[in-house]
Amino acid sequence: MFKFVIKGGKELKGKVKVSGSKNASLPILFASILSGELELANVPQLRDVDTTCKILSHMGLNVEREKKTVKVSGEVKKAEAPYELVKMMRASILALGPLVARYRRAVVSLPGGCAIGLRPVDLHLKGLEKLGARIEVKHGYVIAEAPEGLRGADITLDFPTVGGTENLMMAATLAKGKTVIRNAAKEPEIVDLARALREMGAEIEGEGTDTIEIKGKAELRGATYRVMADRIEAGTFLAAVGTAGGEVEIEDFPYESLTAVIEKFSEAGLKIERLGEKRVRVKKVGALKGTDITTAPYPGFPTDMQAQFMAAMCLAEGVSVIKETIFENRFMHALELQRLGADIKIDGNTVVVKGVEKLYGAKVTATDLRASASLVIAGLAAENTTEVYRIYHLDRGYEKMEEKLRALGAEIERVKSELNY
Ligand code: UD1
Repeated sequence: MFKFVIKGGKELKGKVKVSGSKNASLPILFASILSGELELANVPQLRDVDTTCKILSHMGLNVEREKKTVKVSGEVKKAEAPYELVKMMRASILALGPLVARYRRAVVSLPGGCAIGLRPVDLHLKGLEKLGARIEVKHGYVIAEAPEGLRGADITLDFPTVGGTENLMMAATLAKGKTVIRNAAKEPEIVDLARALREMGAEIEGEGTDTIEIKGKAELRGATYRVMADRIEAGTFLAAVGTAGGEVEIEDFPYESLTAVIEKFSEAGLKIERLGEKRVRVKKVGALKGTDITTAPYPGFPTDMQAQFMAAMCLAEGVSVIKETIFENRFMHALELQRLGADIKIDGNTVVVKGVEKLYGAKVTATDLRASASLVIAGLAAENTTEVYRIYHLDRGYEKMEEKLRALGAEIERVKSELNY
């Protein structure tokens, strides 16, 4: 196991390029099951992508990876995602819709709870039942069957679940007739998935709005596609400069999909200047001001940026109120930030941060992906040395994070942990 050792106090300076989106790559890779042929470019090299490729290979598909391009081809021989792989990544449930749509039967291990809350998949299952699948949950596995194939349906989601919308959208592309998904998630990754599916010949309209319409096809064809840039990684760099200070130019910056985050950091006093369609310059001039956020489904403030925003607010002047409405129990990083000297009070789904003048290096432990990013960011700004344990969480979702930060002047090293985690 490895940890990060960070010598804090250095401002960030230079240029950095945002990688391809993790949360768009995963569903699009699972969509390859629908056509049996996909060439996907700009795929980030990280652990969740490795896990997805392993699941596809386990099913019998050929998966070739060359740097940032993944090629999938062939037929599924075993429509199954086993516990050993699913437990490494909740998004494995995204195999369910494509498998049952194309192969009429799927067995996918039920994703368990995770550090940021219960995260059930009931809405995925209810939606697939509406599309005509018979669902049974047995021995920890979801078994979905549709011997006659799926048929289009009108589905209204109780909550605009991102993964649920993706699963149903993929399944509906091969269902007989028309499917309407209402109260659908509007996240940019849904739009990216719809575009990729269209390249495969799917008929989809309305992605990015709360009503998505899909006309099912008998089959889809092979396609090539390039994944969008990672808006959360881009936002994380805003937070890094907002916390550690400095001036950084960010390339491949998905501006339109980050407006809520840009607005909040700007309100806090961070200077964000758009230099081109996909390029911004971010600069910290003096301390930020305490600023409130409430997480919400897109286009609201993303829950995946909540931890990093909190890190920035730890050193802001005044008080910030941070409310989490998407996941329960997503404040584990707050307790670790306290170890660095942050003044934070947690009350249910709300956190009150009183800005302090300085953070001080300490040993901290990452509990989930975005929490680990917040601790790294705080460590960059803290005096002396911060050691972040369990960075395998960070490796799930950030491509070459420490190399990118080092190129910006940060002192951060990956070293073997003396603990057994
Ligand atoms: C996706 C993202 C994750 C992000 C989240 C919210 C991927 C791979 N992951 O996760 O990074 O934090 O969106 O933007 O894209 N829910 C149910 N029943 C369901 C499904 C969800 O109750 O069947 C609840 C969840 O418990 C949670 C909320 O809905 O409280 C949001 O979950 P969802 O939008 O489904 O998130 P994910 O797709 O898992």
